[in-house]
Amino acid sequence: MASIVQKLITPLVSGPPEPPRNKVTVVGVGQVGMACAVSILLRELADELALVDVVEDKLKGEMMDLLHGSLFLKTPKIVADKDYSVTANSRIVIVTAGVRQQEGESRLNLVQRNVNIFKHIVPQIVRYSPDCIIIVVSNPVDVLTYVTWKLSGLPKHRVIGSGTNLDSARFRFLMADKLGIHSSSFNGWILGEHGDTSVPVWSGTNVAGVNLQTLNPNIGTEFDEENWKETHKMVVDSAYEVIKLKGYTNWAIGLSVADLTESLMRNMNRIHPVSTMVKGMYGISDEVYLSLPCVLNGGGVASVVNMSLTDDEVSQLQASASTLWDIQKDLRDV
Ligand SMILES: NC(=O)c1ccc[n+]([C@@H]2O[C@H](COP(=O)([O-])OP(=O)(O)OC[C@H]3O[C@@H](n4cnc5c(N)ncnc54)[C@H](O)[C@@H]3O)[C@@H](O)[C@H]2O)c1
Repeated sequence: MASIVQKLITPLVSGPPEPPRNKVTVVGVGQVGMACAVSILLRELADELALVDVVEDKLKGEMMDLLHGSLFLKTPKIVADKDYSVTANSRIVIVTAGVRQQEGESRLNLVQRNVNIFKHIVPQIVRYSPDCIIIVVSNPVDVLTYVTWKLSGLPKHRVIGSGTNLDSARFRFLMADKLGIHSSSFNGWILGEHGDTSVPVWSGTNVAGVNLQTLNPNIGTEFDEENWKETHKMVVDSAYEVIKLKGYTNWAIGLSVADLTESLMRNMNRIHPVSTMVKGMYGISDEVYLSLPCVLNGGGVASVVNMSLTDDEVSQLQASASTLWDIQKDLRDV
């Protein structure tokens, strides 16, 4: 006897189901990975979402929980597995997997432990999605983006680090808040290394085309009586503060990664401060990944905007580059 499905539905085509056209994979379903996943789902950027982790119960639990929200989403397929075959045909793969720093552990030791994890993850990603764009989020993000580029064999424009996209978003929020306007109406960039040595480009801060440095030539310096420099310090401290208060940061990074995903998925040519291979730029001669304003479209990083930086800003970028190279040169098996 014919089943309900057979009675209800008359197929017009046979063969395998349609492959995904806009598939996104998130590797690592911790706090950051799930915030990225939910932000991408809510912005309706993917027709398929794949999740990968090594902790199988959590992975299955997260997938089921999201699937139970299917009625409220426009992403018809959500899959999860520890086997990377589930990621096949991804356009974008977001890597948030990693271990956290242990008490007393050196930065280099943490990096090496994450490199060992990436040695397992990256070849699997490329095996199943050789044409994908990888966005690295795990920390230290600039070093791990370099490591991903090396391990993947992908061209540099298809390996991107989330970099100072979040730092710049925090900066724009804090500056705009002081000025009583919306974040999107304050234009300012934080470049260089994500985190402690990030470089605020005070010379380029503006609102509606009005350059703030022309209003206060000392902005961002120690001679500034208004102490705007404090805002950059707040940006650097904010991750530590949030982690102290709630144990981790996730929502802002998730929202910012979804914004990058949108520019890539929708081929927008929008400019974001993300980590890219900067050898040959601003007098940097080492192979390091650092954040500069990058034009993102469907192919990845299409180009880099040459900002008119002051000598001091350039030397800060160069200092970031040497700090990173000092760590990278001692890494094993990259
Ligand atoms: N770039 C940024 O701006 C930014 C912001 C916030 C956090 N982060 C970084 O993101 C990373 C994740 O943070 P979190 O709070 O989600 O950590 P978390 O501990 O909550 O999650 C990490 C996840 O990675 C998984 N994992 C570990 N090894 C794996 C492997 N080999 N394969 C697949 N999955 C694996 C773990 O099981 C876990 O689910 C950290 O490195 C953190 O520092 C970056």
